[in-house]
Amino acid sequence: MGANVIATVRRAHRLEGEIRLPGDKSMSHRALMLASIASGRSSIRGLSTGADVHSTRDCLTHLGVDIDGNIVHGVGLEGMRAAPGPLDCGNSGTTMRLLAGLLSGQAFVSELTGDASLSRRPMDRVVEPLRRLGANAAWPPLRVGGGGRLVGTTYEMPIASAQVKSAILLAGLRAEGTTTVVEPVATRNHTELMLAAMGANVRSDGRRVELSKTDWLEPLDIDIPGDFSAAAFWLVAAGLIPASRVRLLSVGVNPTRTALADSLTACGLRITQSNLRAEGAEPVADLEVTPGALTRPIEVKDGLAGRMIDELPVLAVAATQMPGRSVITGAAELKVKESDRLAAIEQGLLAMGADIKAGDDGWVINGPTKLEGAKVGSAGDHRVAMAFAIAGLMAQGKTEIDGAECVDISYPGFFDQLEYLA
Ligand code: S3P
Repeated sequence: MGANVIATVRRAHRLEGEIRLPGDKSMSHRALMLASIASGRSSIRGLSTGADVHSTRDCLTHLGVDIDGNIVHGVGLEGMRAAPGPLDCGNSGTTMRLLAGLLSGQAFVSELTGDASLSRRPMDRVVEPLRRLGANAAWPPLRVGGGGRLVGTTYEMPIASAQVKSAILLAGLRAEGTTTVVEPVATRNHTELMLAAMGANVRSDGRRVELSKTDWLEPLDIDIPGDFSAAAFWLVAAGLIPASRVRLLSVGVNPTRTALADSLTACGLRITQSNLRAEGAEPVADLEVTPGALTRPIEVKDGLAGRMIDELPVLAVAATQMPGRSVITGAAELKVKESDRLAAIEQGLLAMGADIKAGDDGWVINGPTKLEGAKVGSAGDHRVAMAFAIAGLMAQGKTEIDGAECVDISYPGFFDQLEYLA
């Protein structure tokens, strides 16, 4: 990542325009990994240009996969070779956890490393289930593979995590018999959909996913839609800044990802969907957002947080503008993301004059409050930096975000699009 950047954001009187978002980050990681173990040549258009997806691409290249732009020459399930050294996953939890699953059944040992933030994040959550499948897996440092055969089992996940679910399924591709994962709440299902499209025998029924051992996967030919988690910033900003009208083109609207839109419309924002179509098994649409009368505070409970986990920082910003007491619970996972997001958001929004208190698993936010521009820190976390930029668009005066270069993790061009819309 480049040198420390301080981004300055000023109050916007309206947001207007039409934009395309970066390719979905979750789908991009999965498409690159699955295409790498497919039999033949895949074409993946619209990959995320963010640094996280670059980390995945580089790791796969070090494992002997030939990736040329949007073309991946798959080596088959048995065709990867040991990397010459540790695989650097950068800042990306998805890269580390999904690769751990993918590599756990290989004959060679792989070591996965990352930056300071990723090195602090819990990896026992993947090590434990991979061991249950019979894999060699240890942490810290994270080392997987080089053991005997994997055997399918049923794993009841203690936490809601699409990364852990996906790691188990990727390991399960090579495990004898059937691998079953049961989730506490249904999280994003891109891995299951992509595997099914590639010919794997995968069955999903709400929170339960079953996968049979797979000998080969058909290559992919897909367009990755725009990232709903990137769209989230504009849904909040254009939905709250008076007289705004923003159109977001070709956004992935898989229902396991769009819970934030439902929460915002329940509070009075207007979000309409048009041109709904399918890209493979994934629904894609254009979204238009305009402000509406804000009627009530935000309530997130009963596992809902797990279905909008990446959108919660910007939802907290939205809550500062809602009338009444917004309560967000069930989000303890935010403490172990790229930063402690509960603390980082509390600290920055307090500095901007919000009435917010972080607890063990969420925030209580009283609104509406007039936000004031302030100097805030990104905590090196892309979603925190972008959430503060959206708060800055609604605040009096000038907001300075220290460490804003981290937006490149998922959304290069974020500040250019902000300038265009404002
Ligand atoms: C992701 C799953 C989520 C999310 C992350 C991407 C994925 O993590 O926060 O940004 O692509 O599977 P968890 O599965 O740890 O909740």
